[in-house]
Amino acid sequence: MVISSASESGTGRESPGAGQPWEVDRQWDSPNRNLAPLTTCIDAEGRLEVGGCRLSDLARSYGTPLYVLDEATLRSTCRAYREALEQFYPGPSLALYASKANSSLAITALVASEGLGLDAVSSGELLTALRGGMPAERIVLHGNNKSRQELALAAAEGVIVVIDNWHDLELLAELAPSLGKPVQLMLRFTPGIECHTHEYIRTGHLDSKFGFDPDQLEPVLQHLAGCGWARLTGLHAHIGSQIFELQPHRDLAAVMADALALACGLGHPVSDLNLGGGLGIRYVASDDPPTIQTWVRTVAEALATACQQRQLELPRLLCEPGRSLVATAGITLYELGSRKQIPGLRTYLSVDGGMSDNPRPITYQSHYTALLADRPQAEASDIVTLAGKHCESGDVLLKDLALPPSSSGDVLVVLATGAYNASMGSNYNRIPRPACVLVGGGEAELVQRRELPEDLLRYDLLPARLQPVT
Ligand code: LLP
Repeated sequence: MVISSASESGTGRESPGAGQPWEVDRQWDSPNRNLAPLTTCIDAEGRLEVGGCRLSDLARSYGTPLYVLDEATLRSTCRAYREALEQFYPGPSLALYASKANSSLAITALVASEGLGLDAVSSGELLTALRGGMPAERIVLHGNNKSRQELALAAAEGVIVVIDNWHDLELLAELAPSLGKPVQLMLRFTPGIECHTHEYIRTGHLDSKFGFDPDQLEPVLQHLAGCGWARLTGLHAHIGSQIFELQPHRDLAAVMADALALACGLGHPVSDLNLGGGLGIRYVASDDPPTIQTWVRTVAEALATACQQRQLELPRLLCEPGRSLVATAGITLYELGSRKQIPGLRTYLSVDGGMSDNPRPITYQSHYTALLADRPQAEASDIVTLAGKHCESGDVLLKDLALPPSSSGDVLVVLATGAYNASMGSNYNRIPRPACVLVGGGEAELVQRRELPEDLLRYDLLPARLQPVT
């Protein structure tokens, strides 16, 4: 079955957003509707502050590029999910942070302290979650090609394993005898739901590498019923990312309720339905995502209704927000460097980072909002193209940006970089990764140290015969 959803921006009704990029949209009280972190303000000298810290001071103290994470925004987003689930879903619920959006010990610890769980997709994310203090029973392990080691680590720690395909099942069946306890499983399937987002980040349609094909659902459920080592307690589906429509999520709830009826009918003790993540955020003023409250309410009501119609006991409702949980809490600071003016064509302003700290523009043609840290209110009379420093013509962070007159050494702020920037970063051109500071109450704490060029040589080996002759 393929359900194609009509385009319904969830939120034409929820517009307008904040006026200036640094202003908070108090009307809707949902961090994903703001361009900037909640604590953003302009100090007495007209300079930008986040978490009580002047941004140009942070750039001076910690260097650039610098990721800055606002604790208040991150906590507020966690609470928005938790409270909306409690308010709108009559059964139990849990939001799991999709840590692929930004995985670190500090973020894990904050999210765990707000009572959320976590979705990991590799042994690296799993280790970060466990060391960051996330209880194993609140972690799920995803992946369309999990290694034996990843499965063994998850099963031994008591993490819930989301089986994606028959290969997962074969590997787990081999590991199970040595575990001495049943493995708790969730089963992911492709729901056959289309949504309107970039094709690289769509996962719900049938031509997807993730999850069991819907035709396989019954055979795999039957197979699992005969596996003494397995305890299937949940079903999962995820339709994609940066989605502004609500209808696909309603459709998903109905498809999941059908799957729940099937699984329960075959005797599985399924009590969790995990509807994935996907809620979009505002990157530029024209973006109009639903609020977290609207999204949760839609999903919760659709699921409760679908279960009622099928006379099913209400399952625990799980969801997996990634982007909408961390993106707006994060910003990136750069220092402006060279300028190339091509008369009648374009002015390139280069920053000291680029596609290695933010690969989204070159990968998905994504748009961002940027400001000068110390002159956010000055008249934006120049049109510039913000280029990265990598050896790649496509390494452009923002095209045709209106900026006040600027000079080399000025600090530039790119907003909403908290998700899928650090986590998708690279060392292309052997450029070290930026540091990350957590800000709040006028204090900044380093939570990820800056890589040094020396760090990049850590894994290089030079065979003796190639050693430079001295
Ligand atoms: N659950 C599963 C199984 C997922 O695959 C994802 C995202 C999420 C939850 C979280 O979705 P979110 O709430 O963040 O939309 N790198 C791309 C996004 C890739 C999303 C991959 N999966 C980007 O930068 O736009």
